[in-house]
Parts: sequence; structure tokens; C-alpha cells
Amino acid sequence: MFGSKKFPTTKDGIRIHSASDFAGMHAAGKVAAEILDEMCEHVQPGVSTAELDRLIEDKVTAKGATSATIGYRGYQHASCISINHVVCHGIPSEKRLKDGDILNIDVTVVVDGWFGDTSRMFVAGKLNRKAERLIQVTHDALFKGIEMVKPGNTFGDIGHAIQTYVEAQRMSVVRDFCGHGLGTVFHAPPNVLHYGRAGDGAVLEEGMFFTIEPMVNLGRPETKVLSDDWTAVTRDRSLSAQFEHSIGVTSNGFEIFTLSPENRFHPTY
Ligand code: MF3
Ligand code: CO
Ligand code: CO
Repeated sequence: MFGSKKFPTTKDGIRIHSASDFAGMHAAGKVAAEILDEMCEHVQPGVSTAELDRLIEDKVTAKGATSATIGYRGYQHASCISINHVVCHGIPSEKRLKDGDILNIDVTVVVDGWFGDTSRMFVAGKLNRKAERLIQVTHDALFKGIEMVKPGNTFGDIGHAIQTYVEAQRMSVVRDFCGHGLGTVFHAPPNVLHYGRAGDGAVLEEGMFFTIEPMVNLGRPETKVLSDDWTAVTRDRSLSAQFEHSIGVTSNGFEIFTLSPENRFHPTY
């Protein structure tokens, strides 16, 4: 019958998942996180981002997963690699990393139909103090958001926690990109904003799956997309950082599907 729903969703169109669905997301999230763990040793001055992407593609295959990004809206790579003032969706290229570059690597895999989406920051060579602070604040901002995840809180509570923390550090939250629901699809409702007002937005319920993936700039929040139609950069060319986890809402809080098996989510500890 038209309009019948194979899966329960809320009035906002957010799918509510079952206990066995959590297991599927754990398996997918683990593969994505393992791949990023294994990339740590390869991020060095002199390596090109295309070389890093090739390694990622091989690892996806070796783990029996598939890449969610290859073929997604015409994208042809297994990762997005965003260096310095690139905010997100950096395209792997022959460009080589330089000493002191900071970069986000974002990987999304599909395992048994479930999507695992995670990104984190890496450093090539020696980290300078401003970049170190940006990375720390962005990492901690993600966890301020995650700590708000429990039934009864709203998506606005998540965005508000992130924005308040970042702006207190005199940095800015990117408005032009957001987190998203996911599960058996890559991008689903809701849009998970990384700014906003406490109490606004849909109410969180057990069984919702989504990403939180704040992008934080040292300068102003505005971005622009380059002529390749993918690469987003800061308009003022200030440094930008991002961390992303895929998360599920449990009866009393959250589960992170993309935890690093080797505890390497943060690049410096
Ligand atoms: N993984 C990204 C996200 O966090 C999406 C990348 S889409 C791509 O939602 F096509 F640019 F790879
Ligand atoms: Co995402
Ligand atoms: Co991602």
C-alpha cells in the first residue's frame, strides 16, 4: 500500500531502529574507525592525499566492506581529505603533505548494508600551537554535543552545547554543513546542526542513529565551495578542523559506533 512504512519513523521522518540494528551499526562503525587507526602511520610530510586515499580504498576492500563515497553523487574516492583551511569534502589529489599540515580524513563504509561514517584530525610532522588548540577545541566540542544525547533532549540541545563551547574559546562553528541521520542509508533526516538554541528541534528517542561532525574555524564561520563543486574552504582562509562520530540513542544515553579500537581518535593523545 502506498505510504506504508517498512520501518517506524517519527513525525519528523527520523527512523527508529531496533536492538539488532545497533549490532549492524557497531560492525560498520568499527571498520571505519579501524581504517582511520591504520592511517596514522601513513600521514607524514611528503605523502600525497591520493596515496592516502588509495590505501584507504584497499583497506575497505580488505575488510570486506564497500566505500559509501565512491559513486556517491559522482564522487570517485574512498575518503575526503581536508587540509588546513579546507573545511570539508577535500578531494584526494597529487598534492603532498607539508610539515605542520593538519588534515581531516573522513571515511564512510558500508558493512552488511549499514553505514559507518567517521572523521578525525591528523597531523603531518610538527604541530604548531594554534593548530593544536583548534584541534583540541573541535574534539572537545564534538564530545560536548555527544554528552547531550539521551531520550528527551532535543537536537537543539546538541547544537547549543557545541556552539556555546566553541564560541567561549573565541573560535567559530561552521553553519553551512551539518551532521545527518544514517543507518541503511548514508544521509537521512534529521539535519544535525552544530549550533542552535536549547530545546529547539526534534526530540531525541531511543533507536535514532545520526552523526555529529562539527567543523570549527579559527577565524570567521563563512565557507565557500571551490570550482570543483566539492571542496569547501574558509572564506577568510583561516584554519579549520572537524571530528565526526556515528552515534545511536539508547534508553538512557548514547552509544558511539565509531570508537577507535586503538584509542587514536585524538591525534596527540
Ligand atoms: N562522509 C561525509 C559526511 O560526513 C560525506 C562525504 S560525501 C563525499 O557526511 F561524496 F564527499 F564523499
Ligand atoms: Co557524516
Ligand atoms: Co563523514
